[in-house]
Amino acid sequence: MKNQTLSTLINPSHWLNDAIEFSIAKTRDNLAHLSSFPERTENGQWIQTDPNLNGWWVGGHWVGLLWLAYAATGDVSLTLAARDWANRLLPRRPELDDHDLGFLFELGFVLGYQLTGDEALKQPALLVASILSQRFNPRGKFIQAWGLLDASPELRGRTIMDTMMNLDLLFWAGKEINDPRYVEIASAHAHTTLKYHLRPDNSTSHACDFNPDTGAFIKQDTHQGMSATSCWSRGQAWGVYGFADCYRATGDPEFLNASHRLIEYIWPRLPTDLIPFWDFDSPLIPNDVRDSSAASILAAGLLNLASVENDPKLAVLWRDRAVNILDSLWKNYSSRDTKEASLLLHGTRSKPHNMMDHGLIYGDYYFVEALMRLSKPELTIS
Ligand code: GLY
Repeated sequence: MKNQTLSTLINPSHWLNDAIEFSIAKTRDNLAHLSSFPERTENGQWIQTDPNLNGWWVGGHWVGLLWLAYAATGDVSLTLAARDWANRLLPRRPELDDHDLGFLFELGFVLGYQLTGDEALKQPALLVASILSQRFNPRGKFIQAWGLLDASPELRGRTIMDTMMNLDLLFWAGKEINDPRYVEIASAHAHTTLKYHLRPDNSTSHACDFNPDTGAFIKQDTHQGMSATSCWSRGQAWGVYGFADCYRATGDPEFLNASHRLIEYIWPRLPTDLIPFWDFDSPLIPNDVRDSSAASILAAGLLNLASVENDPKLAVLWRDRAVNILDSLWKNYSSRDTKEASLLLHGTRSKPHNMMDHGLIYGDYYFVEALMRLSKPELTIS
């Protein structure tokens, strides 16, 4: 691994409890004030999603934060709040036009089931896994990211890195109901991502376009990155985390290797404070915006990878790097000592859409997930 010297061992015990306590207190405060799902902050306040969207793609992250707050405190009132908010996702169950059902129901329901053992939380997630599996295009061997199954060829033929995070719902469901079809679909999608998104230099394209009727690959593309040939930092972080999930579920060494390759690209390209710029290829670096959410996803992804790593030295390295990123997030990017509603500052939702310098609910969720993975490694997340 390159650039190991960037990573110096930091003992998180000095700030881990403070960061968790701060996160729980702010989550409780948000709980008292939110009427719909939080998405991003502007002027320090949450912009909440349209209630008719029933959580859009981010509702699971808010519910997941509530489940993690319960895991940290044992406060049963937080499970009641998590269930209440999870129930607001239920209208999404039959939805056939978005791959992000994985984010919504894994964090909204499976995580709650794993923490509480309540079987009632399982059924909605199992149903949604079957809906998600219908998005699989057997000709191209990929899960369609956006749009209905009879949408335009452009939508039907599009894959994005983000889908790597939605595969774990399929792996989980396949195991629960002992149906190998789910695992086959998720593995096939991950292999397609490996083949077409991952470049020889270990960077990834955010999107790829395929002919949905023949399955033929057309081109690499982007939606939130700088260009079709650039590497969008959040997408690369989704990949580190998602390929580790795939390795846990299948034992296929190609997935472990993919996660390693993505990190190998990222690590030498991080600035000294370890928080990535929004796109690794921006010509404006170092005078461009960061994405703190890419950093927290990467930290959680490194800890996820460490938990499945075969080589104990590598597992220590991934943990060490995650701790260093979290240290920087806590000290330099958290909202402690401010009145901001989010836990983290300076997230980039999408620079091409002119949405920068926000708190982002998914940045907050993965920050707390990573803190909890350090504080309670016995906790089942994923
Ligand atoms: N899944 C959308 C994003 O990462 O912004």
